[in-house]
Amino acid sequence: MTIAVPSLVTLEAAALAALAAAPDAAGIDDWRAMWLGRQDGRITGLLRSVKDQPAPERASFGGAANLLKGRVEAALAEKLGGMKSAALRELTTTAALDVSLPGRPQTIGRLHPVTQTLRDIIAAFGEMGFRVAEGPEVEWDRYNFDAMRIPADHPARDMWDTIWVDSIIGGKRDMLLRTHTSPNQARVMERQAPPIRVIVPGKCYRQEATDATHEWQLTQVEGLAVDEGVRMSDLKGILYEFARRMFGPDRKIMFHHSYFPFVEPGVEMAIDWPVKQADGSTTYKWVEILGAGMVHPEIIANHGHDPKKYTGFAFGLGVERVALLRWGIEDIRHFYANDLRFLSQF
Ligand code: DAH
Repeated sequence: MTIAVPSLVTLEAAALAALAAAPDAAGIDDWRAMWLGRQDGRITGLLRSVKDQPAPERASFGGAANLLKGRVEAALAEKLGGMKSAALRELTTTAALDVSLPGRPQTIGRLHPVTQTLRDIIAAFGEMGFRVAEGPEVEWDRYNFDAMRIPADHPARDMWDTIWVDSIIGGKRDMLLRTHTSPNQARVMERQAPPIRVIVPGKCYRQEATDATHEWQLTQVEGLAVDEGVRMSDLKGILYEFARRMFGPDRKIMFHHSYFPFVEPGVEMAIDWPVKQADGSTTYKWVEILGAGMVHPEIIANHGHDPKKYTGFAFGLGVERVALLRWGIEDIRHFYANDLRFLSQF
């Protein structure tokens, strides 16, 4: 059987028309079976018939048939591509995928409330002329206790019986996680001659029964000023000013006498703490935020300075306590419970 060239044109036109009319993927499958099917597809049959052509026409017929097949396949590829992008367009414009839905916001971290408070404390004392010094968190017994006039048999150690480090030297128990930042009074006085005006922030650790206002780990800021003529009134003035900057002018402050082996005289400073009652009213209670006093002359002398010439004051401030009072938080233990529902409020 010979197929004339015009009938190739007719065949191609019919194949392309049928392809254009295929409405969907199923229609294309049917079309493919009908025209390009391996068994009895019409174009497949056309190519198969090349060998039946009379010898002189066989080559040109074969070439024309192959070109036809190529064009029809190209048309199929184009149709498939068009259907794909139409489907995508459909998907992005119907309600099934609402591209106007806002993305999930990135959660942004922030500073821990104790860190924020510590930074504000450092800034407040910085503006009053105190520079920041640092000391070790793992401290020698002799700095933590002896240098601060707390010898081995002193009852003040009982309050602080604490976290000892297995000593590397000679098996003697002489190293511990510091219980307060006060040993830095000694460390700073050893390094530096008056005038001294430093604060030393840092973490401290105690064997402590925890409750709403006590934690076994805490952050302190030690303050130390040593110079000629430093007086108790200077200490009070600085602490009043600090409290005013930290809590505003309306909070009440109270000093009362207290005993610390490293100061004479010693005081504690408390701030009024508003406590909301069940009936909606507010009552106030005093919360101590720091211990302070005039540096014991023996400590000034033991660390290289003349106590007749120089006097000093020192204070040790509890940073978590300040944070409690600042935001009216009812329990200090929230700070280290790592609960984002609490932490993300600051
Ligand atoms: N170191 C004391 C404590 O941790 C606090 C303290 C009291 C520090 C009086 C001082 C001070 O500098 O003068 O409880």
